[in-house]
Amino acid sequence: MRATVYYGRPWVVAGYLSTCNQTANNPWIDQIIFMLREKKFSPGGNLIDLGAGPGTSILKTMTVLNLKEFTLVDSSKEALKMVNEIYGRHLKFETVLADLQTEKIAVPSDYFDLATSFSTMIYLDSIKNLIEETARVLKIGGFFGLNCLFHDDGCKKPHHHLTNFEVSFYDHCWKYFRQEIGKNRLQIVDYKDLERENEAHHRAVLLQKF
Ligand SMILES: C[S@@+](CC[C@H](N)C(=O)[O-])C[C@H]1O[C@@H](n2cnc3c(N)ncnc32)[C@H](O)[C@@H]1O
Repeated sequence: MRATVYYGRPWVVAGYLSTCNQTANNPWIDQIIFMLREKKFSPGGNLIDLGAGPGTSILKTMTVLNLKEFTLVDSSKEALKMVNEIYGRHLKFETVLADLQTEKIAVPSDYFDLATSFSTMIYLDSIKNLIEETARVLKIGGFFGLNCLFHDDGCKKPHHHLTNFEVSFYDHCWKYFRQEIGKNRLQIVDYKDLERENEAHHRAVLLQKF
């Protein structure tokens, strides 16, 4: 039987999530949380999650980091409907519908302490807009944690069957990623390879806006 949960109380939600087994097998989230703690990330801030899906990953992050306000963004109406149905009665959050490849996200600039994007960049043909939008919405000093399969620089093979060959090669190349973040006042503060899949690195990366 599921535990009774209450609106806005992350420590209770943690119990709820463990009964649902919603957060199994996502070591990249543990890695990002570890890195944030190493960087003395303060609890209690605002979080935006890009490509939240049904909320599985981000609820773990906000619970563990004791965040106070959070916004979930996705291009899938179904996913956002699901997250509202599953967690809406228990947690306070906003959902925002946006195509992260092309659209501005309807949220203020310089507002969030933390942005996350778990297992989502890989689905985009271009990461340019996502990086620009993340840099816009983060406060200076705010963090951006993500995971993605990155090509080695110069690798010419596709790394994911769901993405377009040419564009995804270009955009998910580590060198291109670093160039793009450099244009947007973001810098890498930590990263770690999680496993190797063919010629791509599955990498958890922590960035900070300067
Ligand atoms: C593999 S799921 C990851 C969900 C969640 N972050 C997690 O870790 O459980 C990828 C998510 O990216 C979203 N997505 C894919 N393309 C998108 C786009 N262009 N704009 C916004 N979201 C997108 C999908 O709808 C899906 O919810």
